Amino acid sequence: MTQTQKILVTGASGTVGRQVVAELLARGHAVRALTRDVSRAAFPAGVEAVQGDLADPGTLIPALEGVSGLHLITFGGAFFAPLETGPRILELARAAGVRRVTVLHGGGPSPLEDAVRADEGVDWTVLKPVEFMSNALEWAPGIVASDEVREPFVSRLSAMVHEGDIGAVAAVALTEEGHGGREYVLTGPELLTVGDKVAAISAARGRETALVELTEEEAVAQWRAAGQPEDVIAFLVEVYGNTPEAGRTVVGTVEQVTGRPARTFSQWAAEHADAFTAQAAAAAE
Ligand SMILES: NC(=O)c1ccc[n+]([C@@H]2O[C@H](COP(=O)([O-])OP(=O)(O)OC[C@H]3O[C@@H](n4cnc5c(N)ncnc54)[C@H](OP(=O)(O)O)[C@@H]3O)[C@@H](O)[C@H]2O)c1
Repeated sequence: MTQTQKILVTGASGTVGRQVVAELLARGHAVRALTRDVSRAAFPAGVEAVQGDLADPGTLIPALEGVSGLHLITFGGAFFAPLETGPRILELARAAGVRRVTVLHGGGPSPLEDAVRADEGVDWTVLKPVEFMSNALEWAPGIVASDEVREPFVSRLSAMVHEGDIGAVAAVALTEEGHGGREYVLTGPELLTVGDKVAAISAARGRETALVELTEEEAVAQWRAAGQPEDVIAFLVEVYGNTPEAGRTVVGTVEQVTGRPARTFSQWAAEHADAFTAQAAAAAE
């Protein structure tokens, strides 16, 4: 067991940050969670919520006091705009005595990630997850309403990763020696088609779910009708129609770093079965 450490988690209310928080707590560490609005924050018991904005680094000074590790996101504000404040955040972190930094890679160019990589004063680790399993939650409304998933490119392969495993790798890298200067590609344990994912969800909720294959044109029209911006639509067509090799290659990093096998999509679906039931839809209204 490593000594108890205090870690500042940014993006702590988000899909991955929530898991970083949970994994640190499970390992007995103290967690300070950053949010831009503490009045809206709902963190687990024992977590210290602090208000701050990564786009305005001066607001981070109290949050950084007394922490040994810092988990960072690369974006701030609407539409995942890349943060330009990386050098100042790193400077403040070093001044506060932060020794380890993890950063959640965002896919595109990131001045913040560049600043982390260039920093010789901390042990940094870049986390590069492929597709999150939680993206499947986007199917929940269609499944609840009509027992179907409507998708293009249904035979595309994905090595999708459980967000809890991203959190687990972050927690280890933030609190243990030996992960400085590493870039970790994080995947699940298997390659899945869209049909495989739909079958796992059907099994988890105990009800058949139909997969309706859309043409690219039909998918674009559906995304437009849902209000997706054109650049997001172009991104989706590219990654779904032409998934990069890294997104469809299983690697063993999760198990190597955490000592536990990467979780399967069937496990994820069983944990989230409620999200795909009519009762869940009624409760959310
Ligand atoms: N979805 C995928 O398949 C996938 C795959 C690989 C990589 N990624 C990358 O993962 C990242 C998204 O992670 P996620 O899904 O965990 O995010 P998310 O659920 O959208 O959460 C966003 C978080 O960012 C925080 N935030 C936003 N602007 C902030 C600011 N200016 N200052 C402080 N906090 C700020 C929010 O905190 P508050 O609102 O509480 O302030 C919230 O906790 C993106 O970089 C994406 O490219 C996604």
